[in-house]
Amino acid sequence: MNALTRELRMFSDAIEQKNPEKNTGAGDPWRLSYHVMPPVGWLNDPNGLCQLGGVYHLFFQYSPSNPCGALKYWGHYVSTDLISWEYTGIALYPDMPYDCHGVYSGSALVENDKAYLYYTGNVKLSGDYDYIYNGREGNTALAVMDKDGTISEKTLILKNSDYPEHLSCHVRDPKVWKENGRYYMVLGARTLEDKGCVLVYGSDDKYSWAFENILEKEKPFGYMWECPDMFVLDGARILGFSPQGVDQEGINYANIYQSGYCVLEGDFTGACELKPFFEYDRGFDFYAPQTFEDVSGRRILIGWMGMADCDYTNPTVAHGWQHCMTVPRELRFKDGRIYQTPVQELEKLRQSGQTVNVKKALTIKVNPASELYMDFGKVTEICKEAGTDADVKPSCEAMKMVIDGSLILSYNSSEQSFTMAFEDDPNGGNIGYGRTSRKVSLERLDNMRILLDTSAIEVYLNDGLEVFSSRMYPQAGQTLSAHTVAFVDGRGELTVWKLEL
Ligand code: FRU
Repeated sequence: MNALTRELRMFSDAIEQKNPEKNTGAGDPWRLSYHVMPPVGWLNDPNGLCQLGGVYHLFFQYSPSNPCGALKYWGHYVSTDLISWEYTGIALYPDMPYDCHGVYSGSALVENDKAYLYYTGNVKLSGDYDYIYNGREGNTALAVMDKDGTISEKTLILKNSDYPEHLSCHVRDPKVWKENGRYYMVLGARTLEDKGCVLVYGSDDKYSWAFENILEKEKPFGYMWECPDMFVLDGARILGFSPQGVDQEGINYANIYQSGYCVLEGDFTGACELKPFFEYDRGFDFYAPQTFEDVSGRRILIGWMGMADCDYTNPTVAHGWQHCMTVPRELRFKDGRIYQTPVQELEKLRQSGQTVNVKKALTIKVNPASELYMDFGKVTEICKEAGTDADVKPSCEAMKMVIDGSLILSYNSSEQSFTMAFEDDPNGGNIGYGRTSRKVSLERLDNMRILLDTSAIEVYLNDGLEVFSSRMYPQAGQTLSAHTVAFVDGRGELTVWKLEL
């Protein structure tokens, strides 16, 4: 440990210990119950996701000193069940010449009882630079973690001069995996012509890497691609990435930055094609997701439930923290699309489930941490009216649900669209803090699963074909005692569980 590491550690330890709400959440109605949030300060991308020796590791972009973001560290959570997470402290500090302005995002490769943590060392040179085309280093570095969590010395692996010549200084976020006895790395990048792309590198030993390919869309698709990811899911090769600079097209690409995936056809180290891009999540707060494969062979995704540079806000800043992660989601690929489902472990949080048939307007109070599952095909009346065979699942014709007087989830079958919209509560207030509305085309609505937390919501439609994630801030008081859920329109079988860790 060098003198800088020691100083940074003392500084961040003091900030974490000084935070009075860290353990109690006193006076903060929005501290989350089962979504991972920072101990104090700012959190963004999930990093280094892996399972090593039975322990799940979730590192994250972390700035303890400022809830609005500052110098980036890797904070570290561990879990044995993907539901309860223990914060173990800061794993990587910006303490080397090649990462001194931020230990930026990266991934983990697990081999021989070790996790190889590849990350970006951000350096901004002093001088009159634009930091896009000059004045910035995007170094690729490696730190190795033992099974007991000890992290050894860091090594510099690649620097700007190792990247192709026509690239800007924005090259980052290594994702590394092993395939057919060889190691591969994808890096997100921006060319000098402001075209987003992904670089592919190959290695035989994890330490020395050679450039192999550039992946890009035929037509330009944004100026920068961040946080790339590559994996094979149910036989399809997927390239995930988070493009910046994609113009909104109707109801698509409505956020300032996007995250999604393309099926890659062909050879990713040679001639290949990126098929159409699909957004992973249609809500307001989702970016920079990362996936990993656990020992059971599941492909699990965690996303940052936040968004940079947007015009909506998070009042948690006044309580000294900002942003959280989505729950871990298992991915499957079917008929050309990725389906996302909360990992099965989350069902262990379910307490005292209650099922009712919703036939007319109905208002219920649910626990701040709750799960709701609405099956639109299960009510016999619906089957009779639709004149269909009872085991042919009719879908929903119209649905409208209002959460905490201000968040409206609705389905319109003639328009074939699902909407998440924040509106002013007739009693005053808007729990969206500047969030407006987001929409997705959906031919039919068969089922809807909602994960509610004090200040977060994840809505999964049709077994996870579409997902909406958003932050929301009901009640400005000391604690949140319940959410109000009003069904204004729509019929189906509803099950509600209280969720408890
Ligand atoms: C994505 C991102 C990454 C970068 C990190 C810095 O949100 O901009 O590209 O590595 O955040 O915190």
